[in-house]
Amino acid sequence: MLARSVSCLVLVAFAAVAQAAPRDFAAQQPIRTPIRALNDSQISAFRPYAFYASAGYCSPPTTLQWDCGTNCEATPSFIPVASGGDSDNVQFWYVGYDPSLKTVIISHQGTKFDEIEPVLTDVDIVMTTLRPSLFPGISPLVEVHSGFADAQSKAARQVLAAVQTSLSLYGAKQVTMVGAAIALLDSVFLPKHISGVSFKTVVYGLPRVGNQHFADYVDAHVTLTHINNEQDPVPILPGMYLGFVHPSGEVHIQDSGMWLQCPGQDNPSTECIVGDVPEFGDGNVTDHDGPYDGVEMGC
Ligand SMILES: *[C@@H]1O[C@H](CO)[C@@H](O)[C@H](O)[C@H]1NC(C)=O
Ligand SMILES: *[C@@H]1O[C@H](CO)[C@@H](O)[C@H](O)[C@H]1NC(C)=O
Repeated sequence: MLARSVSCLVLVAFAAVAQAAPRDFAAQQPIRTPIRALNDSQISAFRPYAFYASAGYCSPPTTLQWDCGTNCEATPSFIPVASGGDSDNVQFWYVGYDPSLKTVIISHQGTKFDEIEPVLTDVDIVMTTLRPSLFPGISPLVEVHSGFADAQSKAARQVLAAVQTSLSLYGAKQVTMVGAAIALLDSVFLPKHISGVSFKTVVYGLPRVGNQHFADYVDAHVTLTHINNEQDPVPILPGMYLGFVHPSGEVHIQDSGMWLQCPGQDNPSTECIVGDVPEFGDGNVTDHDGPYDGVEMGC
């Protein structure tokens, strides 16, 4: 009887701890799926997306003409459809069609490190639910960083219209989103309004965007690769202790130049970003912009 109530107590105590900090507890557990290296052809398949993400930092008049310098020259067959944003109130974005990859491309400008740092290290970060008008049917348990939700909502309708135009003009069956946090939110948003095509997302130096329910939603619905370069500190922000969780799909570029696939959410291995950059001070901010297979983010 005594033994039984003791073990009951232990169980209850354990359950309480597990409930209070489910994520930290889980993060300590090694993930059993092995970490694998990408081969050269797999790495170079990402290269066009890095150029498209980098062109996201160029102003709308230049992306609308596809005359933005190195990034545009690297993908000469691209057909621009629409561009927008002012890089201040609304991040730059553009939409168009790549006839060689047979995909519509949506690119959202990433944030420069000095602009994003205060947003990500603020300990009073507000998480918010996703607006049902933009994300019909999304569970109210799914919560994201309110700053990212705001940023995504500003261009959402225009981006949706441009994607629909591109799909009908070019008969594409594939839509690819590049950038970082806004692109990830678009990856949840667009499939709620467009059907009959496949979506994929490739993002660079992605910060944590939402809570455990958001990460699980992304794992279930989004084909995502988020590529982290060496000791970039942005992907470890906002901290897991604030309730933020990364979806799966990490690829971590090693100091050696190898690209490793890190399975699971916030894989704690030292070969993945969570283990390699335990604290902000362990990071190197110059790694945020790349190079990603030779491509430095920026216009
Ligand atoms: C690279 O890996 C992919 C996926 O495993 C495989 O299909 C491909 O043949 C490999 N390519 C080379 C050059 O090893
Ligand atoms: C940060 O990274 C850059 C580029 O890889 C390197 O040149 C620099 O030495 C690094 N800084 C520190 C403090 O490690």
